[in-house]
Order: sequence, then C-alpha cells, then structure tokens
Amino acid sequence: MIANRISQFLPSPTLSLNATIKKMQSEGQEVINLTAGEPDFQPPQILKEALVKAVQEENHHHYTPVSGIVELRQAIAQKYKQENDIEYTPEEIIVGTGAKQVLHNTLLSLVNPSEEVIVHTPIWSTYIEQIKIAQGIPVLIDLKPPFQLRAEDILPKISSKTKVLILNYPCNPTGMTIDTPELEKIAGLAIKHNFWIISDEIYEKILFDRRKHTSIASLGLDTKNRTLTVSGLSKSHAITGWRLGWGCGPKQLIEAMTNLQSQTTSGASSIIQQAAISAFLDTESSIRMTQAYQERRDFLVRELSQIKDLDVFTPHGTFYLFVGISKLLNSKYPNSAAWCQGLLEKQRVAVVPGESFLAEGYFRLSFAASISDLQKTVKRIQHFCSSINS
Ligand SMILES: Cc1ncc(COP(=O)(O)O)c(C=O)c1O
Repeated sequence: MIANRISQFLPSPTLSLNATIKKMQSEGQEVINLTAGEPDFQPPQILKEALVKAVQEENHHHYTPVSGIVELRQAIAQKYKQENDIEYTPEEIIVGTGAKQVLHNTLLSLVNPSEEVIVHTPIWSTYIEQIKIAQGIPVLIDLKPPFQLRAEDILPKISSKTKVLILNYPCNPTGMTIDTPELEKIAGLAIKHNFWIISDEIYEKILFDRRKHTSIASLGLDTKNRTLTVSGLSKSHAITGWRLGWGCGPKQLIEAMTNLQSQTTSGASSIIQQAAISAFLDTESSIRMTQAYQERRDFLVRELSQIKDLDVFTPHGTFYLFVGISKLLNSKYPNSAAWCQGLLEKQRVAVVPGESFLAEGYFRLSFAASISDLQKTVKRIQHFCSSINS
C-alpha cells in the first residue's frame, strides 16, 4: 500500500530514541537524556516579546511571500555582510521551515537521479537520507579521529558524476570545524572540478577557545556562485520548535527552491518570520550560551578522559562530544547500538550510538544539559565502563 520511495530511506534515529526514553520516563524511571540536538536554554526575551507582538498587536496572520518576508531577508543579508563578509541581496535568500527543510529543497533543486553527492562522516544522517530522497548517490568520506576534513580527503571521491559536496562545520556530531586555509583548498577543488557546495553552518555561533568562523562563500565570487549557505536560529537562539531556517546562494538556485517550496510548504509561518527579525538585534544570548557550553565541554573532556578505554576528542564547537568506545566493545556489547542500550538500561543515561552518524564504535553525547546532570553522567559512565572491564 505504501509507496516504494518511503522504504528507500530511514526515519530520523534520534527521534525514535527519544520516544523510547520518554516511555521509560513515563514509567517513572529517572533517565538523563543526552540525545537531543537542541539547546537547554530559553529563547532570548526579545524574541518572545516580538512573537507576542506579531500575534496581538501587529496581526501577522496571513500568507507571506513564498521565499519569506523581505524585512527578514534584508536582516539576514545584513547579518552576512556584517558577520560573514558576504554580500547577499534579498533575492539570493530563501526562508524555510527550518534548516532541514531548506536542505531538502536544495538537494531536490540541484541533484538529478544518479548524480553523486560527497559527504564527510561521521555526520548528521539526515543529509544521506535526503540525498536518497532526491535519488542522488551519497559518496562518503570516512574521516578518522580527530575528524578534521582536508581537501586531500575529498579529491579521491570526485568523479564525473559529482554534483555537490556537503560541508557541515562546526560539525554535528564531532564538533570539529574547518580552518580557512583548508576551506580555500576545498573551494579550489569545487571550482576546478565544477561542483556545488552546500555549506551547513547552523552551529557557526557555537565555537570555543575564541575560534572564528569563516563561511566558505566569503572566499571569492567563484566560490559564492556555486555555494548554498544554510543556517537558521534553532541552535543560536534556542528556538528549535519555531521551525525557521534559510539558504543563501545564486539567484537561479533560490528561484528554483522558491518554485519547489511554492508547491509544498509555501512560506514559513508568518508570525515566526516577523519575530525572527528581532533575533538579529540580539547578539548577546548566543555568546552567553556558548560560554556555558564551553565550561561544560571543558568539564566533560577533563573527566571523561580519565576513564580507561574511552577515547575523548575535544570539540571545537557545537554542544556535542563524540566519544570512541571501540576498546570497550565485547561479546555482550558488540557494537555501539548495544553499548548505548546497555548504558541506558544499566545506568539510565541516554546517548546516541555512532551508527546514527555512519560511524561505528562511538557515541554522541549532547552537553546541552545542566552541569549537575553532566556530573551524574560522568559517574554513571564510569560505573558502566568499569563493569565492562571487570
Ligand atoms: C547539522 C544540522 N543541520 C541542520 C539541522 C536542522 O536545523 P533546523 O532545526 O533549523 O531544521 C540540525 C539539527 O539537528 C543539524 O544538526
């Protein structure tokens, strides 16, 4: 009864894991849930007030232009000019219902059946499933620790069918970013071999140790003309549920995405778009959240590094820690899925197995959680690891 295309891709793994945890919690079990990819902070007050105003006073209740209200696209253009050194016009910007939807529209607008899309792993698995939905072929770069993407890793994956390279930095799940000299080399490859870049920079504001983010589209017109920069407010402003994201790129691509969106979701929510304009007046809250994440990262890296046989890699940004457990796999826990299931059942700590990011032998822990939960987590992981070793 159900169309074949649905069985061609996997549903979101973190969503189903969260359903299991919610069930355990509803049965009265105290689970520390470190699976979710969302901030544990409240959105800035200015955003909440702008939303109420959009509803109560300004009455923004009707359809908007498909690609988004011009005031919001202007605010996004201004952000890229000031913060990222890229000049976009509002016609080069589309607003969608979350970065996820924008990515889906981009892949559907760029990729023909059988064309190849290069993706570095470990990675957020949504890209892979969306490539399959677009009938493209995912071509994977299997990065090893410390998971830094280099142009030389991309080169052997390029073929005559390569249409797109997807970059995600800082990266979900490794937290690693890409430095400017490497981005220059990657841009050089895209120009030489004539492929597109989709650059998902949704974690750009969450960088530690005074690292600066460089958008690959800022590296020159040749690069900008073949890049779709994707971002949104979900992570930077703690409004994952509001569903607002955007893509910036060449006008022709934005027009194609707008046509597609006009026959699917139409414009994003009118009141959310209106409120989102005020997010660009608030630069403080993402700085504050990032400081808190950095303290938690430092705590976790220090404490978890002391646990025998865990491999801890210090993330440059995001709120994720990607931890190696291959030395702790055995006949009882032969893979990361079984290991994470064991940790959940024995110690009531939920983390996401590496398989969900196309990387066996790891788990992803989200430190968008209170320091007291993270302190308990360290103890519980310690107990679980020593029970395996004994
Ligand atoms: C790398 C990456 N891109 C995009 C998204 C989706 O963002 P949005 O909530 O705007 O759809 C996520 C969410 O987890 C993500 O990790």
